[in-house]
Amino acid sequence: ADAARVPALVIGSGYGGSVAALRLAEAGIDVHLVEMGMAWDTPGADGKIFANTTSPDQRSFWLRTRTKQPLSNFLGFPIDKDIPRYTGILDAEEFSGITVYQGRGVGGGSLVNGGMAVTPKRENFGSILPTVNADEMYSTYYPRANAGLGVGLVDPGWFDTAECYQYARVGRKHAQRSGFPFVFVPDVYDWRYMEQEQANTVPRSALAGEILYGNNYGKKSLQKTYLPRIAATGRVTISPLHRVTSVTPASGGGYTVMLEQLTTSGTVSATKSVTADKVFFAAGSVGTSKLLVKLKATGALPNLNGEVGKGWGDNGNVMCGRANHIWDPTGSLQSSIPCGGIDNWAAGGAFAEVAPLPTGIETWASFYLSITKNPNRAQFTWNPATQSVDLNWQTAWKQPSIDMAKSIFDKINAKEGTIYRTDLFGTYKIWGDHLTYHPLGGAVLGKATDNYGRLAGYQGLYAIDGSLIPGNTSVNPFVTITALAERNIEKIIATDF
Ligand code: FDA
Repeated sequence: ADAARVPALVIGSGYGGSVAALRLAEAGIDVHLVEMGMAWDTPGADGKIFANTTSPDQRSFWLRTRTKQPLSNFLGFPIDKDIPRYTGILDAEEFSGITVYQGRGVGGGSLVNGGMAVTPKRENFGSILPTVNADEMYSTYYPRANAGLGVGLVDPGWFDTAECYQYARVGRKHAQRSGFPFVFVPDVYDWRYMEQEQANTVPRSALAGEILYGNNYGKKSLQKTYLPRIAATGRVTISPLHRVTSVTPASGGGYTVMLEQLTTSGTVSATKSVTADKVFFAAGSVGTSKLLVKLKATGALPNLNGEVGKGWGDNGNVMCGRANHIWDPTGSLQSSIPCGGIDNWAAGGAFAEVAPLPTGIETWASFYLSITKNPNRAQFTWNPATQSVDLNWQTAWKQPSIDMAKSIFDKINAKEGTIYRTDLFGTYKIWGDHLTYHPLGGAVLGKATDNYGRLAGYQGLYAIDGSLIPGNTSVNPFVTITALAERNIEKIIATDF
């Protein structure tokens, strides 16, 4: 076992972890950034780093022997297939009532997500993070996050004619004819590059259907934003394929952090320990919650408070498709990056992204991912029999989300004389109610932690990721996760170092 001492260790390299590592390093503090996924900097046999959505391979899934695609069926037929077990990029983590999709690798969820970079409406902020000063967030930290992430908006004039956004224009037309506002959604995709993809002057990425298993060109994941700035400080050591299993108080002060080094087939090749003065949990809502719940229950960190593991929500995610008339084709060329949504949050509790179905053929389907005001919250608990962490979410708890999404789509179907698709999530199954892309909570700000993410019970332990947010952000979450991390790390650097 190695013996090493660092001033700060960060667990996980998604949004929260990248913000923490960058700002600590800029303040002159050396950081060890530990990430259980791969670095994603080396091309595979096909010359590309990331696999295409339409042809998943070993790179696509985290330690599974069979794919588990969010859209499990196509034209009614199951499309999952066997793959070699590998430390791939997308984790479909199964709890009893829900599958939680998460990114794995240096860059976390930024590697696999749609890049939709949405700042919540100011009037909704009080219900998202009630203990946080909204004036500071909207004047300082949301702008800082948007700038750091490289957020931009599609050119509305180009959008009106681009072949690859035919599906979104159909979505806009149907929304507006039923009286719903259609709003453009900002994204971290390089919009200039998107226009060049449409013009066929550069290699295609969004227009080649890349999204769920990584994006080879135009998307500004953290690999193109925070991570190069982290590297430029020269103060951050990144350890990919290292998984944190334990954090305990060290005898001489600080914390002993246990790491397992993984091979790409997921076996443990070495066990190491590092001592850190301060430890930042940024393993994502699920990863941080699982670690904290386990460490409290097994006696490694018994003084964590009883709020640890509580307040988990799915951001109200629910998916559905609609079958359009023959005169409303959605296009065989679809950009995998959505750029618009239907806002019925105030009246119906739903914000629906007009999402692509990048199959390469005409499907006459309109596809939507709705974010809804689902009130249900779940809890993570330690299961001594299985030595693992359970989540008590139940599939039936999605019913409020379905009802809220129907506030939009029942009306559109009635107006257009159309019906729901029943062939995307199984046979005769309308609602994609078995999954979330947006896990939030489990170490809620002001409950498991103080108002800046300092974990109750221990000095020098922090949560700084989506686990802080109590279950819903009213829009896609990563801008809020980033902005909150920027706010908290600024305070922590000023007062705790
Ligand atoms: P995040 O999950 O990003 O990072 C945590 C990291 O910690 C991971 O890299 C993980 O491997 C690592 N880790 C976990 N446990 C560990 C351990 N024990 N040891 C070491 N490392 C560990 N959001 C949005 O705003 N707009 C969008 O368009 C989308 N679209 C979207 C699509 C898909 C398919 C997914 C899966 C998700 C999205 N999201 C999204 C959600 C968004 O990606 C998500 O909210 C953020 O990535 C969460 O950021 P965090 O910093 O909390 O953790």
